[in-house]
Amino acid sequence: MRNFTFQNATKVEFGKESYKKLPEQLKKDGIDKILMVYGRSSIKKIGLYDTLIESLNAAGIKVNEISGVQPNPRLSLVKEGLKKFKETKSQAILAVGGGSVIDTSKAISAGYYYDGDIWDLFAKKAPVKEGLPIYTILTLSATGSEMNGNAVITNEEAQQKWDISSKALYPVVTYISPELQYSLPKSQTINGAVDAISHVMEFYFDTTPRTEIQDALAEGIIKTVIKATETLIEDPEDYQCRAALAWGATLALNGLLATGKQGGDWSSHMIEHALSAVTDVAHGKGLAIVFPAFLEFSKDKIMDKLDRFAEKIFGIDTGSKGYDSDLAIKALKDWYKKIGQPVKLKEIGLEEEKIEVIADNAAQIAPFGQIQDMDKKKILEVLKIAYK
Ligand code: NZQ
Ligand code: ZN
Repeated sequence: MRNFTFQNATKVEFGKESYKKLPEQLKKDGIDKILMVYGRSSIKKIGLYDTLIESLNAAGIKVNEISGVQPNPRLSLVKEGLKKFKETKSQAILAVGGGSVIDTSKAISAGYYYDGDIWDLFAKKAPVKEGLPIYTILTLSATGSEMNGNAVITNEEAQQKWDISSKALYPVVTYISPELQYSLPKSQTINGAVDAISHVMEFYFDTTPRTEIQDALAEGIIKTVIKATETLIEDPEDYQCRAALAWGATLALNGLLATGKQGGDWSSHMIEHALSAVTDVAHGKGLAIVFPAFLEFSKDKIMDKLDRFAEKIFGIDTGSKGYDSDLAIKALKDWYKKIGQPVKLKEIGLEEEKIEVIADNAAQIAPFGQIQDMDKKKILEVLKIAYK
């Protein structure tokens, strides 16, 4: 285990109807004018929008809005949101939704304190120095964005899906009320679970030796998320499973699992972001395809960990490391298939020629990865495994 500093600035209010504490919190923080950011229709369908507007107005808090955030959130809407924030002289942002809504809010927040083009921050031409106060009401557990400083945005003109990460972007308070997720379509619950498991795996397969406590936590989260997801496919209103999945997804990417490691690998994520930039596939579906292919590609470098993964997650222990590693990758893919995820690029209708385009796209930010330096040639090899 390496030395580390761990600090997470976000206060989490977890539980049934915890979001009802929001008006009181805003009053306490001296905020009486907010910009509410949300997606398309889900928060209206579940009645959350009306409840919030009513309670915020009753508390004397003026609500300005920007809506229409879509999955793989677009830079153009970030720019509109920033304009709105400035015009309305709002004091803080309220993000109500999943990762795309929260990431859009963080990008607005970072952009507010930067005079140039916001995309400079994503292109790493300038650092994120400051952020606005962000409050989030989470309606989809997946990304961990509710308790971290990351945002991933798609520049639709340049076909680039890039990220920013800064301490300045941690939400001030996040409300996680698992019952708000009863309305999720099955596929969104599943995409979320795959994303959460993938975040855990990015840290788990980091090759830093002797990280027993982090690895045990990781295994516990993966097993619990698998179990909760299987129940939720049958019964979307099982509160305890919603709660387990929600907290598991938050813990997967709130910094806890990064402690003592070298930051995690993140190659699968970088390749998946390129895949989403080119095809607009949902992040959780892209990961179900890319991650097993990446494990296959990296097998010889992470065999001890894969062998442990086989036993701890899937109860596989034949005594042969190489064989168990193969079985672990197969078991992961089989579980993805069982819950209805694609595991091959073909299944999302990708033509083989497009692989080169995706590799070029990902290579714009190469080299990346902790396990090995991923360059275009290696990215292409992963994508070829993912295609076959
Ligand atoms: O637009 P609405 O109508 O709100 O519908 C949304 C959207 O279509 C729907 N939804 C959300 N809550 C719902 C609901 N439908 C019914 N009931 C509810 N309670 O779900 C759809 C998907 O939402 P989205 O926010 O896109 O999903 P997710 O939370 O999975 O976010 C994915 C985005 O986050 C990025 C991904 O790349 C992707 O762009 N990531 C962000 C990270 C971060 N900030 O730390 C890390 C991740 O690795 C990831 O890259
Ligand atoms: Zn992810």
